[in-house]
Amino acid sequence: MKRLISEEDIQKEVDQLGKRLAAEYRGKPLTVLGVLTGSIVFLSDLIRRIDLPLRVGLIQASSYRGATTRPGELTVNTELLPDIRDREVLLVDDIFDTGHTLKGLLEVIRRYQPRSVRSVVLLKKQGRSEVDIEPDYACFVIPDAFVVGYGLDYNDDYRHLPYIAALEDDDLK
Ligand code: IMP
Ligand code: MG
Repeated sequence: MKRLISEEDIQKEVDQLGKRLAAEYRGKPLTVLGVLTGSIVFLSDLIRRIDLPLRVGLIQASSYRGATTRPGELTVNTELLPDIRDREVLLVDDIFDTGHTLKGLLEVIRRYQPRSVRSVVLLKKQGRSEVDIEPDYACFVIPDAFVVGYGLDYNDDYRHLPYIAALEDDDLK
């Protein structure tokens, strides 16, 4: 595989994003909501860079299979979702590819009547969106490649890598 974004560059961006979010949400009842499983590494770094009182919650979305570029039917599991009524929700996901996951999640979350919902993703793939929404923040825009690391997986492998790498033909077995 080919390294795309270094650990150091990720940490720098996450640090800046955390500071920016802290300024924007100061004095507000913030709940940072991570999307399982891909956001866990990003989520755990980001919440430690937002120097504010905040709550952390989780929601699960699944639709993706292996390295295929077609998303399947989106399934959202809200069993782990804390009470977000009247809270300012910041939804955190690993990557915005076609955008169907983020769009579906935002629709589900709004049913729980939060005061506001915004979204942040670590990565946004260029020229892949199939929806009419955009993430509010994206740390990095990347070319259309299948990437792993820093939470992102290929068949549940590679999530633990501290950097982002693009898989090459030899890695896709
Ligand atoms: P979307 O619904 O097409 O935007 O896909 C979003 C979800 O697909 C993400 O939350 C990821 O779990 C997964 N995904 C999309 N692209 C990649 C990739 O390059 N590597 C790993 N997972 C990906
Ligand atoms: Mg995911």
